[in-house]
Amino acid sequence: MERTTNFNAGPAALPLDVLQKAQKEFVNFNDTGMSVMELSHRSTEYDAVHQKAKSLLKELMDIPDDYDILFLQGGASLQFSMLPMNFLTPEQTAHFIVTGAWSEKALAEAKLFGNTSVTATSADSNHNHIPEADLSGIKDGAYLHITSNNTIFGTQWKEFPNSTIPLVADMSSDILSRKIDVKTFDVIYGGAQKNLGPSGVTVVIMKKSWLENENANVPKMLKYSTHTKADSLYNTPPTFAIYMLSLVLEWLAENGGVEAAERRNQEKADVLYGTIDASGGFYAGHAAKDSRSHMNVTFTLRDSSLTKKFVEEAKAAKMTGLGGHRSVGGCRASIYNAVSLADCEKLAQFMRKFQQENE
Ligand SMILES: Cc1ncc(COP(=O)(O)O)c(C=O)c1O
Repeated sequence: MERTTNFNAGPAALPLDVLQKAQKEFVNFNDTGMSVMELSHRSTEYDAVHQKAKSLLKELMDIPDDYDILFLQGGASLQFSMLPMNFLTPEQTAHFIVTGAWSEKALAEAKLFGNTSVTATSADSNHNHIPEADLSGIKDGAYLHITSNNTIFGTQWKEFPNSTIPLVADMSSDILSRKIDVKTFDVIYGGAQKNLGPSGVTVVIMKKSWLENENANVPKMLKYSTHTKADSLYNTPPTFAIYMLSLVLEWLAENGGVEAAERRNQEKADVLYGTIDASGGFYAGHAAKDSRSHMNVTFTLRDSSLTKKFVEEAKAAKMTGLGGHRSVGGCRASIYNAVSLADCEKLAQFMRKFQQENE
């Protein structure tokens, strides 16, 4: 069977090796005579999976000992609410750098719990760049929230802001795609369904000392301390998604870890942006060059009436997920860790051929 080249924004491509390993173990996990999905989350067999996922993530991201690693549910979207619910009081202010629709959603949730302030925004240019942010005025505040990679608009922070208040990052669409210094952040969170595995599990990496500020008046399931105390096993976790996460992390470790992934992602992005830039305006990138995402390549066609044809012909050539989000239009190729350089070269070749035939 020929696999489809998958440029979906999320859920997204998973490494074929991972899918095949999961398939092999599907009905008989580790000689238990059961699928991993059938194991009790309190069993030693499942615990080994849970601990493996945690320790691989810790190793790959070089997460210091004074951070907790949590596997939660509710997607990154629940983090938009849980963070202010736990860490923003009505007297305090949470600061936001708004770089797209997901930052806006995080901001809207924080407004329900306390004061908010927009430190910088790229809204007036349809979020085509990462704005300069003057942080000198921010002396206090509950936290500063950023979105490290803007999945819809295709922009990405290259250097993180130097914040004197706790820095919180939604890294849903670029976690593990490049080396970052975890110590820069008090909280990092992301849904798994782009670089980490299937949907259903959300990874939260949180500085232990930050938990001391947690609001006591929050329902138990929505409190971080409930989950840190129980090692993310307070209630039934999404065991299959965590198992898949452990396989993806294992695959990444076997393929050179984050540094090698970063190099591959740079090469992949260069292939696609190079094709856009060499097209003489037939294709135009949405993001300003210095803000270009290495995960989501957004572009429009000079003649927008050709967009549908482009997506359809790509699909006929077994490349899927290339339709852009309605707020940008045009096309988007999401090239997460599991998308290979050869996949990007195949798309670039298609783009050149499409241009020749339609210019
Ligand atoms: C940057 C970013 N944040 C948050 C979300 C929402 O994630 P979830 O669907 O896991 O709630 C997405 C989804 O695509 C995203 O790309």
